Amino acid sequence: MRILVLFSLALTACAQDKAKVELGRYLVEEAAACGFCHTPKSADGAFDKSKWLKGTTLDIQPIGAPPKDWHKASPDLTPSGKLWMKWGEASMLKYLQTGLTPSGKFAGPPMPVYKFKPEHAEAILAYLKTLK
Ligand code: HEC
Repeated sequence: MRILVLFSLALTACAQDKAKVELGRYLVEEAAACGFCHTPKSADGAFDKSKWLKGTTLDIQPIGAPPKDWHKASPDLTPSGKLWMKWGEASMLKYLQTGLTPSGKFAGPPMPVYKFKPEHAEAILAYLKTLK
């Protein structure tokens, strides 16, 4: 009996994790379209799926002079990237909820300032952690 209870608890936890990752995937890929700026494109203009969210040189720029803090490149958002190594999970979670980096600043344009609610920030983190 005890084993059955433990087994069903484990199954429920597993299903919850899966739902969290799926919510994160939806927020990143569909709602906020992070890949639009953080994924390189191949020669035919399609996203290079082998480098999904690995950071890239942007192919967008404002018409006229860009603001002086305009960034031409975006960082790797995958857990093996430099940013995660530098920031760690807690800073990443805080950034997604406040838009503030560990040094207390906003990222430069065109990176939007996102203020995700805690469960959405956690879901995004869970999804990013599934990436290589
Ligand atoms: C319109 C383009 C664009 C979109 C959309 C976008 N980013 Fe960015 N992002 C950038 C650029 C450019 C930078 C580099 C800015 C900088 O270094 O100040 C950046 C930087 C970051 C950083 C590091 C911030 C820093 O100051 O070092 C994180 C984390 C990040 N983005 C996460 C995300 C996530 C998560 C999403 C989707 C929810 C997203 N970005 C959507 C363009 C974008």
